[in-house]
Amino acid sequence: MTGLADIRSTFLGYFEKQGHRVVPSSPLVPRNDPTLMFANSGMVQFKNLFTGVETRDYTRATTAQKCVRAGGKHNDLDNVGYTARHHTFFEMLGNFSFGDYFKSDAIPFAWELVTKELGIPKDKLLVTVYKTDDEAAEIWKKVAGLTDDRIIRIGDKPGGGSDNFWQMGPTGPCGPCTEIFYDHGDKYWGGPPGSPEEDGDRFIEIWNLVFMQFEQFEDGSRRDLEAQSIDTGMGIERVAALLQGTNDNYATDLMRALIEASAHATSTEPDGPGKTHHRVIADHLRSTSFLIADGVMPSNDGRGYVLRRIMRRAMRHAHLLGAKDPLMYRLVPELVRQMGEAYPELRAARALIEETLKLEETRFRTTLDRGLKLLDDELGGLAEGAALPGEAAFKLYDTYGFPLDLTQDALREKGRTVDTDGFDAAMAEQKAKARAAWAGTGESADLSVWFDIADQHGATDFLGYDTEQAEGVVLAIVKDGAEVKALEPGESGWIIANQTPFYGESGGQVGDTGWLRRLEDEDHIATVTDTQKMGGGKVFAHNVTLGTGAFRVGDPVALEVDHARRSTIRANHSATHLLHEALREALGDHVAQRGSLNAPDRLRFDFSHSQALTADQIAQVEREVNAFIRQNSAVDTRIMTPDDARALGAQALFGEKYGDEVRVVSMGRKDTGKGADGNTYSLELCGGTHVTRTGDIGAFALTSETASSAGVRRIEALTGQAAMAELRGRDRALSAIEGMLKATGEDAVARVKAMMEERRALQNEVAQLRRDLAMAGAGSGGTGQGGGAEARDINGVKFLAQSLTGVSGKDLPALIDQFKAQIGSGAVLLIADTGGKAAVAAGVTEDMTARVSAVDLVRAAVEKLGGKGGGGRPDMAQGGGADASAAGEAIKAAEAVLGG
Ligand code: ALA
Repeated sequence: MTGLADIRSTFLGYFEKQGHRVVPSSPLVPRNDPTLMFANSGMVQFKNLFTGVETRDYTRATTAQKCVRAGGKHNDLDNVGYTARHHTFFEMLGNFSFGDYFKSDAIPFAWELVTKELGIPKDKLLVTVYKTDDEAAEIWKKVAGLTDDRIIRIGDKPGGGSDNFWQMGPTGPCGPCTEIFYDHGDKYWGGPPGSPEEDGDRFIEIWNLVFMQFEQFEDGSRRDLEAQSIDTGMGIERVAALLQGTNDNYATDLMRALIEASAHATSTEPDGPGKTHHRVIADHLRSTSFLIADGVMPSNDGRGYVLRRIMRRAMRHAHLLGAKDPLMYRLVPELVRQMGEAYPELRAARALIEETLKLEETRFRTTLDRGLKLLDDELGGLAEGAALPGEAAFKLYDTYGFPLDLTQDALREKGRTVDTDGFDAAMAEQKAKARAAWAGTGESADLSVWFDIADQHGATDFLGYDTEQAEGVVLAIVKDGAEVKALEPGESGWIIANQTPFYGESGGQVGDTGWLRRLEDEDHIATVTDTQKMGGGKVFAHNVTLGTGAFRVGDPVALEVDHARRSTIRANHSATHLLHEALREALGDHVAQRGSLNAPDRLRFDFSHSQALTADQIAQVEREVNAFIRQNSAVDTRIMTPDDARALGAQALFGEKYGDEVRVVSMGRKDTGKGADGNTYSLELCGGTHVTRTGDIGAFALTSETASSAGVRRIEALTGQAAMAELRGRDRALSAIEGMLKATGEDAVARVKAMMEERRALQNEVAQLRRDLAMAGAGSGGTGQGGGAEARDINGVKFLAQSLTGVSGKDLPALIDQFKAQIGSGAVLLIADTGGKAAVAAGVTEDMTARVSAVDLVRAAVEKLGGKGGGGRPDMAQGGGADASAAGEAIKAAEAVLGG
């Protein structure tokens, strides 16, 4: 039992027998820690259980935790490859008690595991305790029978640092610890802990047991924890080494397998001149693969930049081994073979890891040679031993993509260093220039506050692709366009944290909303009403309104996205991608996105197409989107160069600027020839958040299809619950109609058609009857509805005036024509009483229009009827008034026009 996998399962199995819950490793990107870049020990995921903020249904746990120490406080990167025990990635085995057992159980557990389960000889072991911890020393004596000279007391280190007192960072749970050491024997140089030779290779610490007793605060003060707890950490690689008879972690089974894979792939000797390179590659393969599996992608900021630095460092070493093609991705299968069982996420992300490594290495290789040549040229011109000027290091960084530590690593072999102050100065100068260039694009001056924040704090780390909750630290607050130190209760402003799960509005997707809570006073709550990307898109700003508690710069905060809202936004955004593709299938390849909105309550998609969609086309699109939803295939996200993305068939937005790398979202399975396997339905460049499987969209209902602008159509649609509610509403209305018609489905449609035709016929009939009635009344000399009227001669013009009821203004022109025909020559004035109001029309036969105009007749009548204007042609004019009771006066006024 000496293999790494056996040690892992022995450890977890032992503690499981002792009543511990076996908890999976937490992701490398901590969800619950505001400041930590990567998980760097087993206790990180349990931090809040130690402080009592959180409780779970277990009080004992055991884990094998993946850890990365690169970048930030614990940075082992520079030493990897050159020493026997430095790693950027390692596994920590641990057992934890949350207010359950304490020292008197933790020490016997550890002793039994080490000596019995792992079978490490007692006489090779010694321990350290904190200088004043008599209790721990006593327990060791009793449990292990160790003599005093094997229980070494370690105190605070001169200069402030302290040993045998463990704390995870500047704040948080902490306490004195006891460490177990293994003596590799006198073939190695070195002395026991506390001796001047302690840094030698002979006495190696294998397990640290921390007695969690205090919580440390930023101001240096400490409080006693309510419950004393246990946190331990055993470096699995070190234990594997000693059980395998070596003190070199890189000689253990797992690391050896990776080193051999590297040697095999480069046709070199594992222990030849390239030994260091193989070690660097083996270590960096682990950290980069695990980071990618946990959602970190290479970038130029934050965690992504640490990943890039590790990758490129490994790639330079691959280059030094003479590898002509990308190497790292070819080693992933061996890593998955070694660790995929214990860490299934590695298996699941295998394709993503391989693609990401291959892409990065392919790109980096294009500048690596030229960069190294530049480095050689620069060194050639320098005095013996002189440091490389900062400007040259900056040029390597800026033009050739050499992270500073890669340049330092390259120089290390030559015994040289870099002028890092000069490097920083060159970097600052470039930032200033970039900002000036941005200002020149016409962005308003009050945006400068965001650039100050971006310069000072760098880009916000966006965690929202993987999580909706995280912890962060408030880095800056902006109120009314200026930076402030705090927001007081009830105030509104912008809060910027070092990392956030909140999506900042971009690419048509609205910004997230949710809540920020101060970790120390949970009743200090800020409501996030929007999130925007500022400072050239680098800074994620949360627009907040405070409740009853203040927020200050430096506050640790919990950030929580409104889950329900984010879920519907996600569904809408993914549905937009399916809609886009369905439109291209239905209408043709000319369909291109012209704009979009992905809001929580709906989606909107504008696209190039010049005609309205037919009902059949709309039905086809709706059907197709729903078919892909039901397919429930996995939605996949990859990072690649824009060219590679296009080569795969990705839809790029016209006129959009893309950086060196793009996010490519693919969804739906269909034989389209697109995607790496030629079997991808939708493939789009997109930075938005998406569902995990298409089925998560739930349902899709198209609600409208309209013109947006010339040549651009607009579709609005709903998904999930909202789509169902829409369809249900339509269905209810239809049922009601069917009930009234006493017919269903197509029969109901036929009924409605028939009824509409019948209605039109009846309308025509009614109108005709009304006209007939009016005519009859006029002709009968007084009994008609209008009271009857005969044409009179006024100044030689035959004039017929009539006031009518029961006809509408619309009927008047037809009646005028009939009366004109009846009198043969002359003028007609009709006033219809339409429920108290009056409609007027006048007509003049052709032969009389030279003498009198219908317009004048109408105008004179309208004035009396309480109206204004009236108009038309000399032979036919119309108008209206508010008061039909003045019809008599109106007729008189018209007669006056004729001179009567
Ligand atoms: N948290 C302790 C360590 O990392 C066990 O050493």
